[in-house]
Parts: sequence; C-alpha cells; structure tokens
Amino acid sequence: MWMFLPMNSTLHTIRCQFNQAMVTQFGEHLAGTDPLLVPASHPKFGDYQSNIALSLAKQLGHPPRTIAQQLVHQLTVDGELAKICEPPAIAGPGFINLRLHTPYLEQQLQAIQAHPRLGIPLPSHPQPIIVDFSSPNIAKEMHVGHLRSTIIGDSIARILEFQGHHVIRRNHVGDWGTQFGMLITYLREVCPQALTTADAIDLGNLVTFYQQAKQRFDTDEAFQHTARTEVVKLQSGDPHSRIAWQLLCEQSRREFQLIYDWLDICIEERGESFYNPFLPNVVAELEDAGLIVKDAGALCVFVDGFTNKDGDPLPLIVQKSDGGFNYATTDLAAIHYRIQTEGATRIIYVTDAGQSHHFAHIFAVAREVGWLNDSIQVVHVPFGLVQGEDGKKLKTRSGETIRLKDLLDEAIARARTDLITRLKAEEREETDEFIQVVSRSIGLAAVKYADLSQNRTSNYIFSFDKMLDLRGNTAPYLLYAYARIQGISRKGNIDFTRLPNGIQIHLQHESELVLTRHLLQLDEILSEVERELLPNRLCHYLFELSQKFNQFYDKDRGCPVLTAEEPLRTSRLIICNLTARTLQLGLSLLGIPVLQRM
Ligand code: ARG
Repeated sequence: MWMFLPMNSTLHTIRCQFNQAMVTQFGEHLAGTDPLLVPASHPKFGDYQSNIALSLAKQLGHPPRTIAQQLVHQLTVDGELAKICEPPAIAGPGFINLRLHTPYLEQQLQAIQAHPRLGIPLPSHPQPIIVDFSSPNIAKEMHVGHLRSTIIGDSIARILEFQGHHVIRRNHVGDWGTQFGMLITYLREVCPQALTTADAIDLGNLVTFYQQAKQRFDTDEAFQHTARTEVVKLQSGDPHSRIAWQLLCEQSRREFQLIYDWLDICIEERGESFYNPFLPNVVAELEDAGLIVKDAGALCVFVDGFTNKDGDPLPLIVQKSDGGFNYATTDLAAIHYRIQTEGATRIIYVTDAGQSHHFAHIFAVAREVGWLNDSIQVVHVPFGLVQGEDGKKLKTRSGETIRLKDLLDEAIARARTDLITRLKAEEREETDEFIQVVSRSIGLAAVKYADLSQNRTSNYIFSFDKMLDLRGNTAPYLLYAYARIQGISRKGNIDFTRLPNGIQIHLQHESELVLTRHLLQLDEILSEVERELLPNRLCHYLFELSQKFNQFYDKDRGCPVLTAEEPLRTSRLIICNLTARTLQLGLSLLGIPVLQRM
C-alpha cells in the first residue's frame, strides 16, 4: 500500500521544511514565517518557487542570494525534502526553485486514483456557513443580476459543501417593504381580484403592474400616502393585507422555482419578512449599546469610517421617521439571527458590487454592537454588471430587460443549431432525444460557465457566440474534452471503473508529466477557491486541464494510449480516467453535469 499524501500535504511538508531550515539557520524568531511558496512561473523552473530569501534580506541584513544559499544548504542537509523534490536551485536575485521528483509524482497519482475524493481531504473543522445568494424580489422579475448571483452563489455553496462544511443555502428574497404597499394599493384600483384570488394575473403582468404602481407612487402624492399606510397595515398584520401579500408571493415564488429547476439550484427561502418580528429588538439593542442617534425623526447609527461624498459622517438609518424599518434593519436582524441562532461562523453574501457599501456598513454596525467578532467571518462577494455585446446594460433588441426564461431558452436553441450543424458535418445520425438532451445541457452549461469563468468582480459581456464556441475557455470545450476521454473507453472497450488500483504509474513523455503535475494541483486550487471565493480560478484550472489533456492525447505530438505497449497502456488509461474524473468533479462544483457523448 502506498503512503497517501495529497498535494496540499506536499506543500505543507515543503513549508514545514522551510520553516525548520529558517529557524535552524537564523533563529527561533522566524518560527512560523510563511516561506512564500508560489507555483513556478514557467515549467523550466520546476514546480514551486520560494521568495522568502528576498523578503528576509532586509530583516536579516544580508544579500538575498546569501540567505538563499544558506537555506538551501540547510534544506539539503535535512534530507526530508529530498524525498519529494530534486535538490533546490537558486535563480536570479535569490529565488529558490523546487522541482518535484518524477517517482514522487507517480506515487501521488497512484494514491489519488484509489481515493474516492481524488485526494482531497475533508476538513478537520467543518464550519457552519451561510451562503446568501440569488435573493430576487417578489413582484419584480428576476433579472440577469440575480442570475449571476444564483450561478456564482450555487457554485460557491457546492465547493464549500464538497470541502465538507455545513452549508446553508439561503434565499433572502425581497418579500417585504414598500413595493407591496404600492402594489396592493394599485391592484385594488385596477385588478382587485388579484388580491383575493390565486393566479388572477400572471407574473409577467405582475411585473408590469409593479412598474405602473411605482410610477404612480413617484408622481402622485395621495397614492404615495395610501401606499405607505398599506405597508404599515401589512407590517402590523392586517389579515386582508396578509392574504394579498401571500398571494403575490406565491405567484412570484413559482416563477423563480422554474428558473431554479432549469439550473438545478437548491436553495432555501427565508425572505426579509421572516425577520420582521425581530426588527424592534434590533433597534432596542442598538439603543442599549448607546449607538442610536435621532436625526430628523429617523433613528440612525453612525460608525467610524463611513462618510458621504462631502466627507460628513454617513448614517445607517435603522428606523424611518414614519416608524417603518428598511432593508438595512432587516439585514442587521438577519446577521444577528444567523450568528446567534444559527451559529454560522462564516456568512457569504453574493450580490452585485453596487451593494458593497451597504454590506460594509452592516458589518461595521454589527461589529460595533458586539454581534460580530473575529471568530466570525462575514464576506460580501460582489460581482460586476452583465453587459450586452455593445458594452451597455443587457437589453432585448427592443430595449426591454431580458427575461431569464427567454435568455436560457435562446442559449438552448443556439446550442441546438450548433449541434445539428456539427452532426451534419461529422455525418452522424442521432436521435431526437439525444439532440434535445445534449443541446439543453450544453446551452445551460454555457450560460453558467460564461459567468463563472470571468473574474466576478469585473463586468462581463454576455455573448451567446462566445459562450457556445467549441474552441475557447467555454463549457462546450471542457465538456468535449470529457466526452473525448469517454470515447477512448468506448473505442478500446475499456471499463474505466475497473482499471486496476495500486499498479505502478509510468511518466515518460513530457506531455504526460505536464498533465500529471496539473492533475495533482486540484487540491490547492480548491483550497484557494474556498478561501478567496473566486470560482473563475477553478474554471481556469479545468480549462488548462482540458488543454493539457488534448496535448497529451495529440495524435502527432502527444502519447499513444490504446496502441501503447503494456505497462504504459494501462498507466496512460489511468491518467485518462483521472483526467475525466477531475473534469467531472470540477464541473459538478460549477453546477455543470458532464455528457458521455456530445
Ligand atoms: N433582494 C436583494 C436585491 O435584489 C438582494 C438581497 C441580498 N441579500 C441580503 N441579505 N441583503 O438586490
């Protein structure tokens, strides 16, 4: 049986070795110093590079190269590192380069083959984590911003779940507040049956009604007044208002569910209304902490570091002068509840970057009042806008906002057209069912992947052509690499699940080594995504994996697989299967199922 050492432990061992070397060489005060290991910038430099000598130079008062030499000497004397790497080499001003031994790589590959989680360990301390994502608003249509939040939030939740954490997927639906006052007041005028009967109108109409109601609210003072009273009535539990509100929520909810079903999203709704009973208490606790300042009748909290554009202190209003509570009060109640009642130690909010300020403010107030401390991590995961190919806000040709249903429909329709063209070119006959299943799968995968593969903090240009391109950093490209590997198993009549475990892996060809090194980095990538919450890193990893596989399997410059002699043949089949398993796992963490054929 082989010793099992997943890649993070490899890094861990290297880090410990560096640490020991630093202490022995320069003294106890360097214990625990991060050796600043990064992946090598080019394969010719090996696998990892440590920049520690450069960072210690100033502190120790020696040239970095001298420090590097002393460290390397120490590292070589100890011998532990020699089991993993070739002797460290010094480059440039004092970088220390490390190259993993080929036998070590072979042994690692063999170990992950036998491991159901591909060598990814479960955490020793699973955390209770809440991921607040999607969170559309009732009576308003779910828009592309919510789609981004849904796709990114779902992927983050999947990754944290796979890493073994207890994840609560939360839909903080906007089901409370002024929009209901407006809507109920307006519907009472134009469509009263919608307030007492289910399905009297459909959501499309509801959205139109909402827009009309909003317009009235903005221009008609009497209407505004009635709408405000209507909110107060609802918030104080008036039975007629409650029924109307419930009907409206139900209807929106069903529409949202449709999108969630399409995209295979699991999420648990706990809308803003849930926190209504806790709102007075939030204000009371802030009051007790001496944080409330009354300003023109409104109750405000001021925390250091928040100013408006004139540099004046910026209040967080927690109760308006009419006694009503707002979005911020609800988020304060939610953070309190999530920490105190649900015991979350990490709370992740996935919304557009426009809300960054709101969340920073909420976190600061929660910290000030003492609900938040350093043992709890709260993060806002912001993302940029979705733009059309003209760089402007994504709109339909006639200038309206795009309905998500239509957008997904179009992705599927275009994937279908592409597929049919490809089948013709390849002279393949496939059943209608195949075409339907494959185009749906590719269309939805393309939308998800296009979103996830961007660094979420930037705006992203929505382009059906780009996301469906078979040659690029796209879902179809990755799915194709997976299907290609399954093709090897079909062609050779090989059951990948029955490949022998524990046999010697042989790494001979350069492309084989390159692919293996990449395969073994999954663990590092997942830890990084878990920390930084950037799924695009995982996308990039999978894209490179597909490219490296394609180079490995290249007819001319790669390795023969099915036609190779034993023991190379089995060894290579194992590498193929490990690549497929890694792709399948990685894609599943992005919410994308693989296809056996496409
Ligand atoms: N409903 C909000 C919106 O559509 C997003 C809610 C995000 N979550 C939160 N806890 N505030 O903008």
